[in-house]
Amino acid sequence: MSALFRIWLLRGLAAAFETLAPFVLFQRTAQAAHERLLRWLRFLDNAPLCVPIADALHRLTTYEYATDLGGARLSQRLMLAAGLVKGDGFANEDEALHAVSAGDNIMPGWRIVPALAGPVEFGSFTRHPRIGNTGTVVWRHESTRSTQNRVGLRSPGARAAARFLGLNRSKLPKEFGINIAASPGVANIDEQTRDVVESLEFFLDAGVRPTWFTLNISCPNTEDDPQGYQLEAETRQLCSAFIQSLRAREVEIPLWVKISPGLAPEQYHTLMQVFSDVGVRAVVATNTLPKPSPDDDNVHAGLGGGELHPEALNSVRLLLAEKNRKRYAIDVIACGGIVDGASLREYKRLGVKAGQYWTALVFRGPFAAAIIESELARHERRLRAFHRESLA
Ligand SMILES: Cc1cc2nc3c(=O)[nH]c(=O)nc-3n(C[C@H](O)[C@H](O)[C@H](O)COP(=O)(O)O)c2cc1C
Repeated sequence: MSALFRIWLLRGLAAAFETLAPFVLFQRTAQAAHERLLRWLRFLDNAPLCVPIADALHRLTTYEYATDLGGARLSQRLMLAAGLVKGDGFANEDEALHAVSAGDNIMPGWRIVPALAGPVEFGSFTRHPRIGNTGTVVWRHESTRSTQNRVGLRSPGARAAARFLGLNRSKLPKEFGINIAASPGVANIDEQTRDVVESLEFFLDAGVRPTWFTLNISCPNTEDDPQGYQLEAETRQLCSAFIQSLRAREVEIPLWVKISPGLAPEQYHTLMQVFSDVGVRAVVATNTLPKPSPDDDNVHAGLGGGELHPEALNSVRLLLAEKNRKRYAIDVIACGGIVDGASLREYKRLGVKAGQYWTALVFRGPFAAAIIESELARHERRLRAFHRESLA
């Protein structure tokens, strides 16, 4: 397929989405649109021909930038971040396991989303099932292309998630990540470490071999202080136990860690030192930024998209400066406000090799990654032409 055809196809898809979204998608509240999307994903995962069609569309549109990243090899450098394909919430493990045994699709999007979007980070999964927060938990801010959420780590729990993915092993995508979150509300670090390692072991025991694991130690919108596990001793204990468990089983899957925006420079420096000491291969920067929710000033919800971008960019800048200063072998994966070619370019100029996105899905549609890459490629072509002309 010619590059020109792909460029025009992507321009058409971007224009179509941006024309239709205000009439179709943005007529509903973000909450209603999110719930409807999950219902569709649940259906499309198993609807005849949907996955091969999505796969063909992906191949037609995608920009393949084979990238060695954080100990893994990826076919493209933009991944869908954790939080969409995360599974249903359950009140307890018995119910979640029962749903898996009954053949329910407890993880809407697990087939159709990677087929359409390429690499996806599944999760976050917590050790025990969680319903998450109730009421309105998702908002969008169209003027700044931002989202806010307080989903609160809804999760089927790691045991049921692992069993579900294990039973469907043969249909898993060729590239995907699994994001395991620290258990909210568990203050004792030894108990927390047990939870995280047990979660990992459920996936390994079920024969699930993702391309990467991410340990999410930055959980806003939960009953925890999101900074709690990002302190030196806690991070060191959690990450080294995780890596030791992988090594003990001779499983060569890299560990990435997801952290918060807005930490002090010294805290980022300390985290990089810990990651380097224990063998973490990449850091995903960042999770969302807690701000008062649109409905209630006293309730916080995590900002993503345009309003997160400056904060996440600053975190990435600090992490990269430290990586370069100390020559750490850790990749920094940008996550925060990658919604168009310009925002991706800002990360790329800092030296970032790859990024994750979530909010772009809302404002740019299911082909967001390819659309963003094509905008960046167009911009870089123009810059090169400009330089050629000015040299001539
Ligand atoms: C509805 C929603 C749910 C999310 N759930 C998770 C989650 O379970 N685990 C996680 O690590 N990040 C989660 N995130 C955060 C995203 O992965 C991402 O870090 C954040 O939205 C910043 O990226 P963005 O600016 O492209 O949206 C969630 C984000 C949204 C909008």
